[in-house]
Amino acid sequence: MEPSIIQLPKIEDERGNLSFFQNADPIPFEIKRVYWIYDVPGGEERGGHAYKDLQEFIVALSGGFEVLIHDGKKEYQFTLNRSYYGLYVPRGMWREMRDFSTNSLALIAADKEYDKDNYIRGFDNFLNLSNA
Ligand code: TYD
Repeated sequence: MEPSIIQLPKIEDERGNLSFFQNADPIPFEIKRVYWIYDVPGGEERGGHAYKDLQEFIVALSGGFEVLIHDGKKEYQFTLNRSYYGLYVPRGMWREMRDFSTNSLALIAADKEYDKDNYIRGFDNFLNLSNA
């Protein structure tokens, strides 16, 4: 499966806009955990690692940032800067987040609870494992 942008519902009325996602709809997994990244100092990068067995959905709730994904063969780059779409990251991908704008807020829903043993650290290590 490839990483892909998924558009979310956007319900607009005179009071403002509302968007949402819920368990497995419209994202292709059931949510086990939600975390968020915020107050990122200018120039900092997050998430330089891969997950062995974890799917994620990333939304820029506020501001924007770049997400770099690598599947072991091919690199993908996405810009997230609207709160009504998000990026689906299939399992087994390397991912980095960078170029955070001031006050940006990244919301991430995952299909598993936190487990440090689910991480692959080091890009060369990831390439070796994914191409083994
Ligand atoms: P890490 O995944 O390394 O952050 P990033 O990939 O965005 O750079 O996590 C940073 C720290 O937070 C690390 O000590 C693990 C901890 N953490 C949790 O305890 N629970 C979580 O759900 C996440 C994502 C991280």
